[in-house]
Amino acid sequence: MGNKMNKLTNKKRLVSIILAGVLLLGGCGAKEVSNTEDTVAEDQFSEEIVIGFSQLGAESDWRTANTQSMKDTFTSDKGYRLIVEDGQQQQSNQIMAIRKFIQQEVDYIVLAPVTETGWDTVLQEAKDAGIPVIIVDRQVDVSDESLFTCWIGSDFSLEGKKAAEWLHQFAVAKDIPESDIHIANIQGTIGASAQIGRTEGLQEGAKKYGWDLLAEVPGEFTQAKGKEVMESLLKEYPQINVVYCENDNEALGAIEAIESAGKTVGSDILQGEIMVMSFDAVTKNIMRCIMRNKITFDAGCNPHHGPRVEAQIQLLEAGKVPDMFSYVEERIYSYDATVPSLEVDNNSYSVTVVTSKTLEEFK
Ligand code: AHR
Repeated sequence: MGNKMNKLTNKKRLVSIILAGVLLLGGCGAKEVSNTEDTVAEDQFSEEIVIGFSQLGAESDWRTANTQSMKDTFTSDKGYRLIVEDGQQQQSNQIMAIRKFIQQEVDYIVLAPVTETGWDTVLQEAKDAGIPVIIVDRQVDVSDESLFTCWIGSDFSLEGKKAAEWLHQFAVAKDIPESDIHIANIQGTIGASAQIGRTEGLQEGAKKYGWDLLAEVPGEFTQAKGKEVMESLLKEYPQINVVYCENDNEALGAIEAIESAGKTVGSDILQGEIMVMSFDAVTKNIMRCIMRNKITFDAGCNPHHGPRVEAQIQLLEAGKVPDMFSYVEERIYSYDATVPSLEVDNNSYSVTVVTSKTLEEFK
């Protein structure tokens, strides 16, 4: 396999550098190095797998958990060297990081892309250098899928559909006319798979069930922006009774804004409460928010990709071909059992009611 060949070449080059250094020292009159020591040096380097991880940023609790999962997995005691570059939400920074990894001749590149488009050139460069690229979390939209080795992440479109279906079932169960549902959508980073899938799920639901979708405003997946956006939405649309946040950090910001405006967060929307729906469900803090009905619905998004990426790397190391696309399984959570389960595309999903027992599963 071309990529594997390049990786071995890379490691051999490191070994050659060490050996050249040893020979040079020898020339200066240093003690001769025995063959046994040469072998030890070679073995050490041939076992290390160097991974360059271009993380898109640190905008959310989900992202922190995702980075940590990579760090916890790719440890030096297991023979890995992980180089993490934080893109600070800028695609240009991520492109720079990938070019740096190519120069460093890493064995694998792992890319968590900020948005879907704009990767063709740099991925072609990685391919030309023979470095396998594993995409995690969001997807890339490239003209040629051979530009990356495989992808692991969430089905964001399914997450959006689950949320929409839950809202419909909730309205039916509570006898709420669908046209009385006035929704504001605080979107994620525009052009990110998580934003695209979740926004589309809501738009399709609004069209299908006749909800009043008042506004769609980018919230960049951050708490600060979620708060800022919610403050202005409340002024512009006093009739909002559902806020659909495309991640939990936005939801935390929106809750702050709603409560500071003297309004109540909750699911009694016909009595003036504003119901918060969200995505991620990664931390204990968020689980508490669900338990207290501050967030009534939360579609889980799994950030723990480290071991999954490792499994793909181990397959590649063994000369095998990993699946091109691997979707992770995700749960859905609610404050109560108003909607015990829901169906999307002929599959049934049960809704987990968050209790103090559920909290124990989270950090
Ligand atoms: O791409 C995954 C999304 O990105 C998560 O929902 C969000 O919290 C993160 O910033």
